Amino acid sequence: MEIPINHWYKLFSPRVVILVTTIDDEGRINAAPYSFCGPLSINPPMLYISARSSQDTYKNIKKTGDFVVNVVSEDFAQKAVSCEKKYPYGVNELEKVGLHWEDSKKVKSPKVTEAKIHFECEFVKEVETGDHILIIGEIVAVDADVVKENYSPDFTKLKTILQSSGEDFFLVGKEIKLKRE
Ligand SMILES: Cc1cc2nc3c(=O)[nH]c(=O)nc-3n(C[C@H](O)[C@H](O)[C@H](O)COP(=O)(O)O)c2cc1C
Repeated sequence: MEIPINHWYKLFSPRVVILVTTIDDEGRINAAPYSFCGPLSINPPMLYISARSSQDTYKNIKKTGDFVVNVVSEDFAQKAVSCEKKYPYGVNELEKVGLHWEDSKKVKSPKVTEAKIHFECEFVKEVETGDHILIIGEIVAVDADVVKENYSPDFTKLKTILQSSGEDFFLVGKEIKLKRE
């Protein structure tokens, strides 16, 4: 079946759902869910999120230079997705939905207490890609409560949420082993 090309991204899924926390130049907290995101480089450790210039997340990253990627788990997934709601600039979505935050180790943006994996990032550069802007961040600290001995996530505890598109979400399911030559 041929797919109208502007629906292509729905087929590049499911994608990991994250909650990005930032602060503005008055120190006010912002939080928004994202799923256009991923790793770029192991060393130096780099990741990307893809945002729109109209979003408070983008404005804050440009103003204050850092952000935290909080990985979303099933136990706070609905609250994380509800952070999508557009409030006036400066309103803390975490407070609105009943999530909690705490100081990060290395960056000014706070991390979400309920999240089990946090990537603290310093803004490196942006690349215009079209209707979204690729934001590249260097990871300066990472912590995780739910890892196996090799530092891979234990998904039975993490319960990562994935987005297909719109309101279609999935829970990470069965782990399988594949041989790598
Ligand atoms: C699960 C989910 C994933 C999303 N992923 C993205 C994304 O990758 N990029 C994007 O620009 N917007 C994404 N959005 C929409 C933003 O969260 C939304 O525009 C939000 O209002 C931005 O908030 P802000 O203005 O406080 O930064 C997503 C929304 C949801 C619910």
